[in-house]
Amino acid sequence: MIDDLFRSPQTRRMIFKLGDNALVLQNFLAEKQTQAMIKDIINIINIVPFRYMFTPSGHQMSVAMTSCGDFGWITDNKGYRYTRVDPLTNTSWPKIPSSFYRLACQAAEHVGFINFKPNACLINEYTETSKMSLHQDKDEKNLNAPIVSFSLGLPALFLWGGLNKSDKVVKVRLQHGDVVVWGGVDRLRFHSIASIASGSHSELGRKRINLTFRQVQRSF
Ligand code: SIN
Ligand code: FE2
Repeated sequence: MIDDLFRSPQTRRMIFKLGDNALVLQNFLAEKQTQAMIKDIINIINIVPFRYMFTPSGHQMSVAMTSCGDFGWITDNKGYRYTRVDPLTNTSWPKIPSSFYRLACQAAEHVGFINFKPNACLINEYTETSKMSLHQDKDEKNLNAPIVSFSLGLPALFLWGGLNKSDKVVKVRLQHGDVVVWGGVDRLRFHSIASIASGSHSELGRKRINLTFRQVQRSF
């Protein structure tokens, strides 16, 4: 492990405002919690493996993805959408582990979203060469619910923009254990992952994993 890439476990929780309804909760996830989450992620990817999907315009993504929850997010030549069944394995997406669910709700409450009931959790796996271009999260029918995003493993350079693609962006370094929440007036802010730090993380090696919790629509 390259020590100066990561904060010491004693680092305090800090909160940064990104907007009226958007916060970075640094160090929100404790080491014990992230270790348990990584075990749960390994179980999930044994059922629904990571895959490099294609955008509707035919570009293969550099981020490998899978999902858990009532709905999973997919992209192919038919478009971006949520499905109840994983088209790769023909199985339902695995349930969101209760530990993830509780922490996601607690993070949402910090920003005042007290009724967050996520029913989709997208799991992104980044290597040092992965990027995610500037986009809005807008495939969810319920835009009243926030997005809650957990960072694990290697640090990433997260760009946080405005409501128009051409608005200027601020740079945020997201590290292992950090959480970002955006909702309300900030729900449709553009954002991207510009780069992943090189190095090796003690638990995830040369990878970053990001989880985003979303409330896609009501679950029945
Ligand atoms: C996303 O925008 O869906 C992922 C953001 C991240 O990886 O931090
Ligand atoms: Fe996003």
